[in-house]
Amino acid sequence: VSEGRLNGKVAVVTGAARGIGAATAGRLAREGACVMLADLDEAPLQQATAELRREGAVVDCEAGNLSAPDVASRLIDRTVRAFGGLDIIVNNAGYIWPQAIHRMSDDQFEALVDIHVGAPFRILRAAATPFRELAKRESASGRLTHRKVVNVSSIIGLSGAPMSANYAAGKAAVVGLTKTLAKEWGRYRVNVNCVAFGMIATRLNDPDVAKSPLLEVGGRTVNVGTMGANYEDMQALIPLGRAGTVEEAAAGILMLCLPEADYVTGQVLVVGGGLE
Ligand SMILES: NC(=O)c1ccc[n+]([C@@H]2O[C@H](COP(=O)([O-])OP(=O)(O)OC[C@H]3O[C@@H](n4cnc5c(N)ncnc54)[C@H](O)[C@@H]3O)[C@@H](O)[C@H]2O)c1
Repeated sequence: VSEGRLNGKVAVVTGAARGIGAATAGRLAREGACVMLADLDEAPLQQATAELRREGAVVDCEAGNLSAPDVASRLIDRTVRAFGGLDIIVNNAGYIWPQAIHRMSDDQFEALVDIHVGAPFRILRAAATPFRELAKRESASGRLTHRKVVNVSSIIGLSGAPMSANYAAGKAAVVGLTKTLAKEWGRYRVNVNCVAFGMIATRLNDPDVAKSPLLEVGGRTVNVGTMGANYEDMQALIPLGRAGTVEEAAAGILMLCLPEADYVTGQVLVVGGGLE
């Protein structure tokens, strides 16, 4: 906790137990923000939180399935109570559940639309009250601050990909949510942007199929490791020639949270090494 470009800010990062979310929580915490880490996977969530605490970060965590009722509003309430404010929300939690459309059930479609746009919608709806109240109070006192929302999309949401009707629909919809709230919340000085990742090296695309990770969500078990089947072919398509690291992904999110981005809103930043 040394650089301090986010000193005094309060952040929520979802999907923070591992991968891009854990790297983002660490990055924001090292810039001085108090961070609430959220995830459904309790053991790695506790571990990620404990590791950051050992570094001296001010962090806490809230476990829960963000597709279940009331989990989003509980997360926002708890963050405001724990840290006394709310400045940054990173809607990152997500997973893949690939299937050809002729085999995709309603459940399979709806589950991914829900986690990629439904959960961000519920989180941001819950944040509307503190965001509006804080902004009004600051307007009255003349002490104006910008708040930041970064929603995580994917180049699959912008360009599509086979076997991804559910994922692409959710990741495209979150762009619409982003652009709408940028317009709705400009008056409260809340900047709402998206980061669309290309291929970032996490368990979602680990080429070692034997390691196929399973996600327990809403009473189902989903293999979230199947994107790695085309790992080599995919890397060859990336202009920079390699997958991105989680630190590089977190850096893309951080950029949109800094004061330097106070006049940037409603945008989609593609962090993909040139892949689009
Ligand atoms: N890795 C990539 O190449 C890539 C590319 C584009 C977009 N993304 C997006 O980036 C985000 C992070 O992905 P990652 O690669 O770090 O994956 P990951 O599996 O390493 O981490 C995702 C985390 O989200 C959590 N999560 C999933 N569903 C949840 C739910 N219903 N409630 C609460 N927590 C939940 C998981 O438990 C996990 O810890 C996702 O939204 C993903 O779609 C990733």
